[in-house]
Amino acid sequence: MRAKITTTAARHRIAGGLSLALLVVALLAAACNRGGGATDKFIIGFSQANKAEPWRTWMDDSLMKEAAKHPNLEVRYADAQQDNSKQVADVENFLRQRVDLLIISPNEARPLTSIVRRVHESGIPVIVLDRSVEGDSYTTFIGANNREIGKAAGEYTAQLLGGKGSVVEIKGLPGSTPAVDRSEGFREAVAAHPGIKIVADPVADWLRDKGREQAEAALRANEKIDLVYGHNDPMAMGAYLAATAMNRAEGLKIIGIDGLPGTEGGAKAVLDGKLDATFLYPNCGKEAIETAVKILNKEQTPKKITLPTARITKENAAQFVNQ
Ligand code: FRU
Repeated sequence: MRAKITTTAARHRIAGGLSLALLVVALLAAACNRGGGATDKFIIGFSQANKAEPWRTWMDDSLMKEAAKHPNLEVRYADAQQDNSKQVADVENFLRQRVDLLIISPNEARPLTSIVRRVHESGIPVIVLDRSVEGDSYTTFIGANNREIGKAAGEYTAQLLGGKGSVVEIKGLPGSTPAVDRSEGFREAVAAHPGIKIVADPVADWLRDKGREQAEAALRANEKIDLVYGHNDPMAMGAYLAATAMNRAEGLKIIGIDGLPGTEGGAKAVLDGKLDATFLYPNCGKEAIETAVKILNKEQTPKKITLPTARITKENAAQFVNQ
C-alpha cells in the first residue's frame, strides 16, 4: 500500500516535471514565433479603412511594393469596408495575433481611438496613416497637413473667382480628420474674401456617387453656382458629372484634392479640363513601411511625419499623371 502511494507520488512528480518542461518549450516557441507567423519574420498588421476608393488602392500598392523589398516582413491586410465596427474587430484580431507592429488608416477618428490606444498600451508599436485618431496614443502619425491643403484650396478659390462668387463645399466623412481639417482650412482662407459665399456644404462621405447626388441637389437649389470645392477628387468628379448632365458645367469651376496619377486619376481630370485644380494628397504607403522598418529596428521615429503636397493645375498636371 505504502509502496503504491510512493509510486503514485513519483509518477505525479514525473508528470509535473514533464508538463513544466512542455510549458517552457511552448513559451519559448511562442516567443520566437512572433505574431504567430514564420519564425524569422516580423508580422505587420495593416488595417485599411476601405479598399473601394482609388486613393486607397494607390496607398496599398505603394505600401506592398515597399514591403516586398524586405524579405523579413510579412504584411497581413484587413479591409474595414468603411465600417468602424469592422475596423475595431480587425484591429482586435491583430492584437490577439500579437503582431509586431500595427499600421492603421482609421475610417473615423473617435470609434477607433480606444482600440488603437489598447494596442499601443500593450506594447505593440502603432503607425497611424492619413486619417488620425483622437489623442496621441500611437507611435507615429504619417500624413499631409490637411488644414494647409484646405487653406491652399480656399486661396485658389479666391483667385479663380476674383474674390467674389457662390461656392458649394462637398464634404468627406464627418468623423474623419481630413474632412474636418480640409473644411476649417478652406473656410479660414475664404473668410478673408467677404464676396465669397458658401451657399451649400453637403456631406458625401468621400464617395463619387454621393458627391454627384449632392452636387445635383445644390445646383438645383441655387441658380448661380460659381465653384464647387470637393474634399476629394471622386466627389469633385461627381460634381462635374452632375453639372455636365444638367447643362450647368459652362463657367463652373471645380476643384478637388488627391491628384492621383494614371488615366483615371485627378491629375488627368485636370489635364483634360474636367477639374480646374486639385491638390496632391500623398498616399503615405512607402513612408509607412520605411518608418515601420525603423521602429522594428528599435530606431527612434518622430511623433508626426508631414508629407509634402502640391497644387496641380493644367500647367503642371502632365508631370503628375505619369508619376
Ligand atoms: C480615400 C480618401 C481620399 C481622401 C482621403 C482622406 O479613402 O477619401 O480620397 O483624400 O481618403 O482621408
